[in-house]
Amino acid sequence: MQLSASSLLALLTLLPWAIAVPAPAPKADFDSEGLADRALSIVTVPGPVDVVTIVKTFTSYATQGEPALAPAPTPPAIPHIVAEAEAPPAPVDAAAIPPPAGPPPPAQSAPASPPPPPPSATATSPPPPPPPPPPPVASSSAPPPAAASAANPPSGGSGPTGLGIDSTGWSALAGSGVGWYWNWGLDAFHLPGIEFVPTVWGTVDAGQVGEKTFPEGTTHILSFNEPDMTTAVGGSAIDAVTAATLHQQWTGSLTGVNANLMIGAPAVARGSTAWFNNWITACAGKCKFDFVPIHFYGTDANDLISYVKSFPAQGKPIWITEFACWDTTQNIICTATQSEQFMRTAIDWFRESGGMVERWSWFGALPDKSGDGYGLENANGSLNELGKEYIKM
Ligand SMILES: *[C@@H]1O[C@H](CO)[C@@H](O)[C@H](O)[C@H]1NC(C)=O
Repeated sequence: MQLSASSLLALLTLLPWAIAVPAPAPKADFDSEGLADRALSIVTVPGPVDVVTIVKTFTSYATQGEPALAPAPTPPAIPHIVAEAEAPPAPVDAAAIPPPAGPPPPAQSAPASPPPPPPSATATSPPPPPPPPPPPVASSSAPPPAAASAANPPSGGSGPTGLGIDSTGWSALAGSGVGWYWNWGLDAFHLPGIEFVPTVWGTVDAGQVGEKTFPEGTTHILSFNEPDMTTAVGGSAIDAVTAATLHQQWTGSLTGVNANLMIGAPAVARGSTAWFNNWITACAGKCKFDFVPIHFYGTDANDLISYVKSFPAQGKPIWITEFACWDTTQNIICTATQSEQFMRTAIDWFRESGGMVERWSWFGALPDKSGDGYGLENANGSLNELGKEYIKM
């Protein structure tokens, strides 16, 4: 999710390529989740082609079956980009800004990042060219939100309804009534009264979490973000066996009050149950986790409900940490009305699931998603009507 300056640069380098890409993009499986992270950072390029649209075209999911589109031409190898991608998501240091997004370019709508990698085991299609990751926190030109990394803003309220937010739109949540938030990173924004849930996004974070101090009131922590996906699309790209070892290491590094945190299992993209099962096997009972976060993108809330019911969560409560009314395979972006119906159906079910679904977080409260029907914020970061409705659900 977080990008580094160099990543951003690499990204910019890609733009020309992206623009040249033929409309129908390849379908790749994946979950747009990574988008959140990276989405934050991408810049829209003025011109005939809508970069955002292009990017979205690439997204698709594994679960949705065969890709409808022919695989997109693979972009030329972008060595340097790849290299960047390999780099751990950028966790910036605490003082820096919050992870996810770079400041969005003011007037433009920043699309997110590109395509996701193939999901589950059935990697049918080669993933589309990797888009650059999200902007690094610190490097972006945009000024970090002032308070963003306030050392330990007290966390307060809670409740099952949460939001995934980035460094560009977090301040609008103050006083919004949302129960909790996460930002794909370990460092909280200054949002007293709203519970922060830190994320051990990838390998780098796993090595740093032991020295972190979280806001008072922090009770839960998330593990790897879409380890089943490539970094190009926002995933942390960690194989199940390595993830099992790393997870044990970072959970074991928690001391003091942090040792009491409820631990989340790695959050896979929709359709990646194989990765999750492989992780469970590799853990051999030695990975501590108290709940299972998962991501889902699609246009039918009943598909989400079925997916939740079938997910091999080992009897643990499930958190839907990313979900939106968006079919990434066919690039169908719901209208705000459709999104409201989708989230209402899903949330009504979550609340009646008898604890099967413990918390949820719509994707996302991100200014650069203001132009999409599932977005919850206006371009200036304030919550739009859908966002206000969501918080009340
Ligand atoms: C933010 O944008 C919304 C929608 O355009 C508008 O209604 C609101 O007044 C704006 N808020 C500020 C503080 O500019």
